[in-house]
Amino acid sequence: MEERVQKFISSAGVASRRKAEEFIKSGQVIINGKKAKLGDKVDPEKDTVKVYGKVVKPAEEKIYVMMNKPVGYVVSKSDPKGKKTVFDILPEDLRTKVWNVGRLDFDTEGLLIMTNDGELTQQLAHPSFEHEKEYEVSTQEEPTDGQLEHLRTGVEISTGTTYPAQVKQRDGKVRITIHEGKKRQVRRMFSAVGLTVTALKRIRLNKLTLPNNLPVGQFIKIKKEDII
Ligand code: URA
Repeated sequence: MEERVQKFISSAGVASRRKAEEFIKSGQVIINGKKAKLGDKVDPEKDTVKVYGKVVKPAEEKIYVMMNKPVGYVVSKSDPKGKKTVFDILPEDLRTKVWNVGRLDFDTEGLLIMTNDGELTQQLAHPSFEHEKEYEVSTQEEPTDGQLEHLRTGVEISTGTTYPAQVKQRDGKVRITIHEGKKRQVRRMFSAVGLTVTALKRIRLNKLTLPNNLPVGQFIKIKKEDII
């Protein structure tokens, strides 16, 4: 779609719109080899715009996807053993653009975020950004108060002692909120206190709660503000 060249330059993050107008006036903006004039329009898909000799790349549209991951899918772009991946669930135009933020195990269900926003990915991965991850856990045994308290205060797993967690019971299941994300952490924590996990589902990541009306295996587009 066509837009004014100064708008194109500013939305690409090169300069403010006023500054872009100054560049045009001073003859520093070239469209397809010709000096641009104020008000000239460009089609970012077809035209080449240069500012001070450098090609301006159009701003990339940021995409945020929330998926309700099914059990039986790997969180990976491809699987050497040919298992189904969560990317198989996405249509091709999305699949090629986004990557997963964090992981869920093959046998875990629930909230998974995919994006092409590198900044958000870094923020969510950084340990200083203490975002909460909440899981709903079904167990084979009825948990005792002692086991729940043990999960709350921290348990010894092979990678060290876990940080304090929020733990409560709801509808016969355990809800646990952790801030870390070690490999198979929830399963290992439960195993360490003598509980066998029969089903594990992530229901919240920071501000974002998995909606009850998002069926397993489906996804929706969301906004960055929904997450952090
Ligand atoms: N903890 C686990 O054990 N598995 C997951 O997939 C996520 C958290």
